[in-house]
Amino acid sequence: MKRLSSYFIAVTAIALLFSLTPSSADSHEKFVQCLYNYPHNTTSISNVVYTQTNSSYSSVLDVSIQNLRFFNATSKPLVVVTPLTVSHIQATIICSQRHGLQIRTRSGGHDYEGLSYVAGVPFVVVDLIKLRGIVVDVENSTAWVEAGATIGELYYRISQKSEILGFPAGVCPPVGVGGHFSGGGYGFLMRKFGLAADNVIDAHIVDVNGNLLDKETMGEDLFWAIRGGGGASFGVIVAWKIKLVPVPSTVTVFRVPRTLEENATEIIHKWQRVANKLNESLTIRINMGRVNSSQNGNLTVQAQFESLYLGRVDDLIPLMQNSFPELGLVREDCTEMSWIESILYMAGFTNGESTDVLLNRTQLNGLSFFKAKSDYVKDPIPDVGLQGLWPFLYEDEAEDAFVQFTPYGGRMNEISESETPFPHRSGNIFHIQYGVSWQEKGDVAAQRHVNWIRRVYNYTEAYVSKSPRSAYLNYRDLDIGVNNNGYTSFSQARIWGTKYFNNNFNRLARVKTKVDPRNFFRNEQSIPPLISKGRK
Ligand SMILES: Cc1cc2nc3c(=O)[nH]c(=O)nc-3n(C[C@H](O)[C@H](O)[C@H](O)COP(=O)(O)OP(=O)(O)OC[C@H]3O[C@@H](n4cnc5c(N)ncnc54)[C@H](O)[C@@H]3O)c2cc1C
Ligand SMILES: *[C@@H]1O[C@H](CO)[C@@H](O)[C@H](O)[C@H]1NC(C)=O
Ligand SMILES: *[C@@H]1O[C@H](CO)[C@@H](O)[C@H](O)[C@H]1NC(C)=O
Ligand SMILES: *[C@@H]1O[C@H](CO)[C@@H](O)[C@H](O)[C@H]1NC(C)=O
Ligand SMILES: *[C@@H]1O[C@H](CO)[C@@H](O)[C@H](O)[C@H]1NC(C)=O
Ligand SMILES: *[C@@H]1O[C@H](CO)[C@@H](O)[C@H](O)[C@H]1NC(C)=O
Ligand SMILES: *[C@@H]1O[C@H](CO)[C@@H](O)[C@H](O)[C@H]1NC(C)=O
Ligand SMILES: *[C@@H]1O[C@H](CO)[C@@H](O)[C@H](O)[C@H]1NC(C)=O
Ligand SMILES: *[C@@H]1O[C@H](CO)[C@@H](O)[C@H](O)[C@H]1NC(C)=O
Ligand SMILES: *[C@@H]1O[C@H](CO)[C@@H](O)[C@H](O)[C@H]1NC(C)=O
Ligand SMILES: *[C@@H]1O[C@H](CO)[C@@H](O)[C@H](O)[C@H]1NC(C)=O
Repeated sequence: MKRLSSYFIAVTAIALLFSLTPSSADSHEKFVQCLYNYPHNTTSISNVVYTQTNSSYSSVLDVSIQNLRFFNATSKPLVVVTPLTVSHIQATIICSQRHGLQIRTRSGGHDYEGLSYVAGVPFVVVDLIKLRGIVVDVENSTAWVEAGATIGELYYRISQKSEILGFPAGVCPPVGVGGHFSGGGYGFLMRKFGLAADNVIDAHIVDVNGNLLDKETMGEDLFWAIRGGGGASFGVIVAWKIKLVPVPSTVTVFRVPRTLEENATEIIHKWQRVANKLNESLTIRINMGRVNSSQNGNLTVQAQFESLYLGRVDDLIPLMQNSFPELGLVREDCTEMSWIESILYMAGFTNGESTDVLLNRTQLNGLSFFKAKSDYVKDPIPDVGLQGLWPFLYEDEAEDAFVQFTPYGGRMNEISESETPFPHRSGNIFHIQYGVSWQEKGDVAAQRHVNWIRRVYNYTEAYVSKSPRSAYLNYRDLDIGVNNNGYTSFSQARIWGTKYFNNNFNRLARVKTKVDPRNFFRNEQSIPPLISKGRK
């Protein structure tokens, strides 16, 4: 990472030598030849290029697919490149433009709509799985994290160096930092420290001309855009520098279930009025799903109150008694542990597993077919609104469905809407994620489950943010709008763009116009340049 300036000079010269004039889709053989011809002065590229005839192609492509809906996609990449060095990324960007191929960049592969590895055009996947170095600097409370690392690897490396440093990112360890940080990124430290993107202090990105840029050389606008605007529209992010945050050596967690018979609706009623105002060291999130009632075996809704408190149980109990007695939390519900143990607990590792499980890039519960959507809530949902939601959870399609409420407030209220592209700050009480998974293969099952979640989303419209109905980029949802195939119209993109970014969408389009005016980095929901040059 110290070689940046020499790379910068060398690469500018290389970019000039290579013609950037795009042509119509050539054979991928020419693309591969171009990769080989590109000057790689440290490590040869020939060991990291997988064409469809290579016997390892499928395993390399499939290893990071996190959603079975896209496992057998008909449109697969012509080539997968797994860069070991920056020059491998630069070559892929330059050569794919030369030979009329698009690029999809993949870090952890968690994109809900598979945009990092599925495209309806001839394309190449740049998979950063081998660029995952992490260097933690305890003295300065910072770290450099390469884009292909997972948040689990990051948490693990931090914990190896310090018990009292943490980082405010997501809950699921295999999520990749490349997509996650560039789209926002939140977990149980959000109320105290904001999003992962709020704690990024530098970044390395390769732009459309193959230049490796850092915060200084990319300039304020691009550095703003990649901290919440999604990386995929702007270049290939190589690494992030992040500010680590202080955590106490002992934290307290609990997970308390309440069914409808146990007054779940009334407790959620109260939660909506306190959860965003609680001390910011306390985060209580709710996961709702259906269970068999222990009383009569009928289906009922269970609300699971999951919480991290950055302090001791002795302080938590009185805090809960004062602000949220309706939950009836008792000391026996709570467990004190280190922050890194709380990461395991929230990820579902509750059997005393070693922290090594954080290095595992496989989902704990295996893969399923999955579809999700998101919403923001500015006024409490009335009880009648909740009561109308519960029957959806009793339907056949909802066997493996959840509705999750995540409280805002705290640090999220202190950051202005325009500070980063992520606009959902003060004024939001909580965020909703709806999710449904299934195991049955085929289009019929998929359609049934996707329809189920669309009906739920339709039902809740009356109770959530309006004009626009906001959504979280990292919970990507192509239902809210897409770009035309191959041609990105600004006015069409505004439809989904304002939902993710609100008023920040226009600035994102201005940044795009500046850094990628010919719209090379594009996908179904990429930021369009203001004046699109049209088809290529
Ligand atoms: C099981 C699961 C749990 C999750 N938990 C949380 C959570 O707790 N909190 C939360 O906020 N989100 C969560 N998410 C959502 C997650 O933050 C997003 O899916 C995120 O974009 C994933 O990043 P990735 O690198 O793994 O994904 P990828 O699919 O690799 O990438 C996602 C998008 O970013 C682009 N991209 C990836 N890497 C780069 C790069 N290096 N440069 C430029 N563009 C890039 C891709 O092209 C794609 O458009 C979860 C998702 C799943 C599937
Ligand atoms: C690669 O080559 C460039 C230009 O020749 C040089 O400046 C740079 O230091 C080299 N990089 C490495 C890692 O050797
Ligand atoms: C497959 O691709 C890898 C990576 O480029 C290469 O090392 C390997 O030799 C290739 N295998 C075959 C059978 O072509
Ligand atoms: C993918 O296709 C293969 C071969 O047709 C099939 O065996 C497999 O079940 C499919 N997987 C999914 C997730 O649909
Ligand atoms: C802390 O940062 C300073 C200034 O950037 C740097 O000189 C120093 O080496 C860093 N400390 C460590 C342990 O890397
Ligand atoms: C539910 O609320 C009712 C009335 O407020 C109360 O009488 C009852 O004890 C509560 N049930 C539980 C399980 O807390
Ligand atoms: C929140 O709780 C912490 C202790 O966990 C305390 O130090 C802090 O003062 C509290 N903040 C507010 C605003 O009450
Ligand atoms: C709930 O009950 C149904 C039918 O009685 C049964 O098939 C299912 O496995 C039960 N679910 C759980 C989680 O116990
Ligand atoms: C649930 O169980 C009770 C018996 O405990 C029964 O009367 C009732 O019809 C069942 N079904 C529903 C939907 O409540
Ligand atoms: C990784 O996790 C998966 C799923 O939990 C498990 O099957 C596998 O054995 C784990 N691998 C390692 C190396 O621990
Ligand atoms: C959407 O909801 C409205 C009422 O909120 C209802 O009239 C309409 O039929 C619903 N549409 C679908 C497709 O479910």
